[in-house]
Formats: sequence, C-alpha cells, structure tokens
Amino acid sequence: MTGGAGFIGANFVFNWSTATGDPVVTLDKLTYAGNLDNLRMVQERKEHLFVLGDIGDCALVGALLRQHHPKAVVNFAAESHVDRSIHGPEDFIQTNVVGTFHLLQEVRGYWEMLPAPERTRFRFLHVSTDEVYGSLNPDDPPFSESTTYAPNSPYSASKAASDHLVRAYHHTYGLPTLTTNCSNNYGPFQFPEKLIPLVILNAISGNPLPVYGDGMNVRDWLYVGDHCDAIRCVLEHGRPGETYNIGGRSERANIDVVRTVCRILDEIHPGSPTVPHEKLITFVKDRPGHDRRYAIDAAKIEKELGWRPKESFETGLRKTVQWYLDNQAWVRGVTTGEYRKWVELHYGAQHQPS
Ligand SMILES: NC(=O)c1ccc[n+]([C@@H]2O[C@H](COP(=O)([O-])OP(=O)(O)OC[C@H]3O[C@@H](n4cnc5c(N)ncnc54)[C@H](O)[C@@H]3O)[C@@H](O)[C@H]2O)c1
Repeated sequence: MTGGAGFIGANFVFNWSTATGDPVVTLDKLTYAGNLDNLRMVQERKEHLFVLGDIGDCALVGALLRQHHPKAVVNFAAESHVDRSIHGPEDFIQTNVVGTFHLLQEVRGYWEMLPAPERTRFRFLHVSTDEVYGSLNPDDPPFSESTTYAPNSPYSASKAASDHLVRAYHHTYGLPTLTTNCSNNYGPFQFPEKLIPLVILNAISGNPLPVYGDGMNVRDWLYVGDHCDAIRCVLEHGRPGETYNIGGRSERANIDVVRTVCRILDEIHPGSPTVPHEKLITFVKDRPGHDRRYAIDAAKIEKELGWRPKESFETGLRKTVQWYLDNQAWVRGVTTGEYRKWVELHYGAQHQPS
C-alpha cells in the first residue's frame, strides 16, 4: 500500500489485514497528512511493515518490490486537499502525476519479470476521486464510468492525469490495473482540514464553523469503512483494465452536512460551550472554481461485484462524531504548528481549534 499512513490508506491497511491476514508493506512519505499514529492498530502486527519513502523514489520502490514480492500494489499516496492545490499546485503535480508515473514504471518492470501465473494474478489498483469528472448541474444524471473527464482544480487535474497514466499502462503494456473513483469520504483518522472533522472539532471548541459561499455545494458522502470494503472487493473481483465508481447514494448540501453534525453534537455532547452548535455557523467567501455538485452512479460495482455500503450517512456520521470525541489525544497530536498555520492562512485566526 502506498499512502497508508493517511486517512483512507490507514483505514484500508487495518481493513485489509483484519479481513485477510495477508502481510502488508506500507510505503508513505509522511507529509503533513501522513501520521504513524493512524496505523497504531496494525503497527504491532508482525505481518505489517512500515517504510518511510516517496512513491517517486524509483530505487526504493524497485527494491521494495523485489524484496517483498507483492501480489498487488494499491496506490493511495497523493496530495489530496483541493484548497491546498489552489495555494500550491506544485506538490500535486510532483506526487500525483510524476510520482504515479515513477511508481507505474517500477511496478511494470517488476510485473514483467514475474512468472506467468503470478503475472496473470497481479493487480495494480489506483485509488482516485469523483472530482475528475468536474461539476454537475442540479438536474444532471450522476457521474458514471463513461462520463467525460473535466477536472476543474489543480488537485482534480493531477488526479485525472494519474488516472490516464494508469489507463495507458494497461492498454500499452498490459499491466493488470484497476481504477476506483470514489466520492467524498468521512470517518476516523481524517485530517481536520477537511469539512466534517473541521466542523466537529471547531464545534466542540466553540469556534466558528466556516461554510463556503451559500453552503449549497452538493457532494456524495461515503463512510470510509464502506470505501475500504469496496476497494477490497474491486481488488479481489474487478476486471483488469476497468474503472469502478464508488459512492454512497448520499448527496448532501454542505450546509446540511454541517447542520447534521451540529444536531448530533447537541445530542451526544451537551456539555459543549455552545449549544445549539448551529449558532456557530459562519458563511465565508467561496473558494475559486468551487464545483457545485458531484454525484456518483455506483450501479456498476453494485451489479458486477455485489458491493453495497453498510452505513447510511446518518449512522456513519454518528460513528465519526463519536470517534472524534473519544480520540482527543489523536486530535491534539495532529492539530499542531503546521495545521494551525494552514487554518489561519485559510480562514483567519478566529477559526483556530483551541
Ligand atoms: N478523502 C476523500 O474524500 C477521497 C475521496 C476519493 C478519493 N480519494 C483519494 O484517496 C487517496 C487517499 O486520500 P486520503 O484522503 O486518505 O489522503 P490523505 O491526504 O489523508 O493521505 C495521503 C497519504 O499519502 C502520503 N503521501 C503523499 N505524498 C506521498 C508520496 N510522494 N509518496 C508516498 N506517500 C505520500 C501522505 O503522507 C499521506 O499519508 C488519494 O489518492 C485521494 O485522491 C480521497
């Protein structure tokens, strides 16, 4: 797994090794978004090995492949935050495009040397996003696997480029690739620059809850555990060369997401400094190029592979809010210098978690 110390990667390493017992090597550069504490549930397991490094480091990746002889590579490593890509797109091009290219090159070299039966069974799974499809109008049908790519941010453009490279390595070299395009995730271990953890943490500290523009930007939301199950399902049963859209059939406007978090907190955390928490909602200037609506048609993975999400938005969100309340030590560990600088740059000093 690459990027396994990040939000989805860490959830996936735990999900995979619990379900299969297979050994896992996690390669991660530990950027601001990577955190070894996210892997605490698997670090003690003898079948898990953490390696600090960059997916763009060909010598390291090549050596790891030869040494550990994996039957699959799952690529989560990425710069993943749209707002950061607006302030500094360079890192996104380096990791998401150049890094994925180097990783593909090394994996291809390794795969070509495998004996025939292992070559056939090998998989390279690339984890991507619904943001590559661009923005929908309110009445447009949801994104399907045949929707034309139309990325609008440096983040989504860099992910789209990586998806195209993966596609090309299948068509040109025959590498058995799989690509998944998923909607917005939420759940344990998500870095609190993203909407749901940011709102939870600010609400329990009594700080303003920043909502972009009119709050009517719509996203489809999926609990991270359901995303991990879907990736495992695609890895085991997906057809090489195919892409699979993954989503929760849970379209929500941002303002409704924020209000739902507030209502859950009113109920399960009545000792907060500000109840009702909705009083903290503050509309802030919209970000440039903010896509209006994303929605996913997940019919292909549901019909072909039999995957379905287990959590509804309400049950998954309740679990998530409870997790952040129960894991304040983890929160304190990640809301340090770099994080505080980012919140101040983006929303101003009054939005700092205390
Ligand atoms: N979070 C979402 O809602 C969402 C939705 C759909 C798809 N995705 C995709 O899923 C993947 C994981 O997303 P996430 O939210 O867990 O991201 P994240 O930012 O939480 O984690 C990314 C991880 O990759 C590591 N990393 C970054 N650059 C690296 C490099 N050059 N080499 C090795 N490791 C590197 C980081 O240290 C971090 O641990 C990304 O590819 C993202 O595009 C995310």
